[in-house]
Amino acid sequence: MTVETMPKAVPPVPSKTAPGVRVGGLSVVYKTSAGELPAIAGINLDLVPGTITGVVGESGSGKSTLALSLLNAVQPPGRIAAGSVEIDGLGDVVALRGEDLRKARGRHIGYVFQAAQNSLNPLKTVGKQLLDLGRSHGVSDLRALVREAKELLGRMGMDGARVLDSHQHELSGGMRQRVGIMLALVLNAHLVVLDEPTTALDMITQATILRIIREVHEERGLTTLVITHDLGVVAEVADRLAVMYGGRIVEQGPTREVLGGPRHPYTRGLLRAIPRLVGDIDEARALPGRPPTLGTVPREGCVFRERCPLRMDVCDTVEPLAIADGPRIVACHAVDAAAAKETKA
Ligand SMILES: Nc1ncnc2c1ncn2[C@@H]1O[C@H](COP(=O)(O)OP(=O)(O)O)[C@@H](O)[C@H]1O
Ligand code: SF4
Ligand SMILES: [Mg+2]
Repeated sequence: MTVETMPKAVPPVPSKTAPGVRVGGLSVVYKTSAGELPAIAGINLDLVPGTITGVVGESGSGKSTLALSLLNAVQPPGRIAAGSVEIDGLGDVVALRGEDLRKARGRHIGYVFQAAQNSLNPLKTVGKQLLDLGRSHGVSDLRALVREAKELLGRMGMDGARVLDSHQHELSGGMRQRVGIMLALVLNAHLVVLDEPTTALDMITQATILRIIREVHEERGLTTLVITHDLGVVAEVADRLAVMYGGRIVEQGPTREVLGGPRHPYTRGLLRAIPRLVGDIDEARALPGRPPTLGTVPREGCVFRERCPLRMDVCDTVEPLAIADGPRIVACHAVDAAAAKETKA
């Protein structure tokens, strides 16, 4: 239901609108025995107001580090070494501190961090934690908050009253994950960050939850970021897609275009590895090799070169720039070379 079609007696939805987000030149380092090493480097990413952006990449590519950065929540031994995260209505989150930051998290930015199944307080019921959350953000109508929580839990296939009366150990991993999603949505934040929101769920529940995320996103007019290692998940839910590898975004664009015509060799490899998307299990081929770790990610040249079938000399020494072609952005020397040839012809 949109604001226009709502009956007059119902209090209007808070007049917040979907915020835009501009991540610029963002780098995060972690302190290791080998010194400070970058987990993400020079990330540029715009979240368009009212859209769902999916971030996909193998484990270790820096997805969770990026998610934490959006809330300025990177913890030691990590730190944001450079860049900015401009959120409409909040300013540069990287510069926020103390109470301003605490208020922004939850109220303006709803989030579920990875492993949210284990982040509930084991000593308090879910309902008690919900009330704590509401009070800490100055919610005056706690009854309405509880009603809203029950409604969200009900939509996700759970008995809301029972879940609110439960402790963490009484809930399965999948149920805790849904509680995490409820907590991310219940304060009515208009920017929502979901890090691996469906990993503990079976396929059918996963499909239901993705549908509900999409529905709530549309009903409330949110800006949403969904992070996942599963290309099938983003294919289902995201309007736009960013593909991460070795701490970089190697390709981004509208989901249909990126999946329908992947340009970066890594995106192509990822797609070929998925029988569900290729359509034929015999044709699915795993990407050879392994993703780099903090210690092994190349310091110069292209981070993907060890696994790339199109590697050229320049790839060893020069990091490819992210080049925009309409709504598509790709960082690859081979793609640049092909585009240059096309222009000349
Ligand atoms: N607290 C930490 N200390 C040291 N290295 C870390 C820490 N957290 C993450 N990393 C490293 O940063 C890189 C990116 O990790 P992460 O953002 O969790 O990736 P993803 O979510 O894509 O799996 C990985 O190489 C990971 O090992
Ligand atoms: S820049 Fe070179 S190594 Fe990297 S993906 Fe493109 S062709 Fe492959
Ligand atoms: Mg992660």
